[in-house]
Amino acid sequence: MIAAQAEDFVSFRATARTLLAAGIPPDQVAWGDSLFASNVDLPNQANPVAVPRDFLALAELVALHRDSVKWPLLYRVLYRLTHGERDLLKVDVDDDVRALLLMEKALRRDMHKMTAFVRFRRVRDAEPEYFVAWHRPEHYIVERMAPWFRNRFGSFRWSILTPDKSAHWDLENLTFGPGVPRSDAPDEDALEDLWRDYYRSIFNPARVKFKAMKAEMPVRHWATLPETQIIPSLLLEAEGRVLKMAKEQKGSAAAYVPDVRELAMLQAAARGCKGCDLYAHATQVVFGEGPSDAAVVMVGEQPGDEEDQKGHPFVGPAGRLLNKAMNEAGLDREKIYVTNAVKHFKFIERGKRRIHAKATGIEISACRPWLEAELMTLQPQLVVCLGATAAQSLMGRDFRITTERAKFFPHRWAKELVATIHPSAVLRMPERFDEEYALLVRDLTIIAERVKELEKTS
Ligand code: URA
Repeated sequence: MIAAQAEDFVSFRATARTLLAAGIPPDQVAWGDSLFASNVDLPNQANPVAVPRDFLALAELVALHRDSVKWPLLYRVLYRLTHGERDLLKVDVDDDVRALLLMEKALRRDMHKMTAFVRFRRVRDAEPEYFVAWHRPEHYIVERMAPWFRNRFGSFRWSILTPDKSAHWDLENLTFGPGVPRSDAPDEDALEDLWRDYYRSIFNPARVKFKAMKAEMPVRHWATLPETQIIPSLLLEAEGRVLKMAKEQKGSAAAYVPDVRELAMLQAAARGCKGCDLYAHATQVVFGEGPSDAAVVMVGEQPGDEEDQKGHPFVGPAGRLLNKAMNEAGLDREKIYVTNAVKHFKFIERGKRRIHAKATGIEISACRPWLEAELMTLQPQLVVCLGATAAQSLMGRDFRITTERAKFFPHRWAKELVATIHPSAVLRMPERFDEEYALLVRDLTIIAERVKELEKTS
């Protein structure tokens, strides 16, 4: 009997190739893990056996199964494939093939569940933003699935913690660390503590931009911070503090936003807002509208001329186009809360006409406390940003609709956020209207599907 070991697909492949080349039949191999078996030590053969590609793809997946019977099973199938049964994988009544396909099915189900059930939550006080999720997959799929999360949530720093392994994305690199030793799902606070422990353990001060940090927060102040603060949080918070101070010096609606979670009260208070100068020219504030239990919040830019006169969001030409596109995409406006990043109409006068003028970054930031209060009150599953103003208000100034439209991102005020083109932008391109409108409907259809998924898993 030959003792062979495999810990993962790569080591299995190497060992299996050596065994095959030496002609060792499966019933003479005892597969084990590295704790009790020494790896097979056979002379390398000059003519390695050609392994069918289908098998390799299947084996790479099945190697992630938790049950270690996968190793003898994989070797048995491999041996048979290379010893006269080339089409074995097509014989799905064969016991070995059946067992392999069942393992494959279990893995695919597990991977799908991971895409549906991983929920990121924002780590309190972490600046820049950091998201963490806990998940317990049945099999060893974290490394395999991490690129999927990077593709979908690539513009955020995040960690996914599981009992077997942790995956981390820092906007540049996907890295993996040990699992967190927990058999039960941690509650929200424990999850954050776990993440902080992890962060403390991997923190590498050499990678921090000390110069920029010192400029933002003089070193002499570091010592006055509570001793319990670990260096990473010190660094992460430094940026937040500076941003906060900068914000306090500018105009802001913050002072007008009452500390309540009641939409009608927020709306009433918004009528008195003088957080920026736009109130002085507009007819009235146009606050968000829709059901207080809305799972979806749509955020536009600012009210237009018609909205300003009527006092309701998206009731003018852009609103009508939006309604049509939503209908086609299967989104019910009645169930959606619709609002704007800026709550007053900004315009320039041309004769009798009032022409929409773009809100500045200062005006958008000044108005953000209203949007935040609406989102904090509603706690939606999904925020849909219509156009760059809304998206940049909620995702930062680097956010680009052109490259990020119809992608879903975790967000502090909702489970996810997604952006698409603003219907006014479609109206502004008469020569490309049909294509742009079709793209808007396409995005809204993707969004409608995601809403259904989120509803199922909420
Ligand atoms: N455009 C917007 O962004 N919002 C409205 O309410 C109307 C037009």
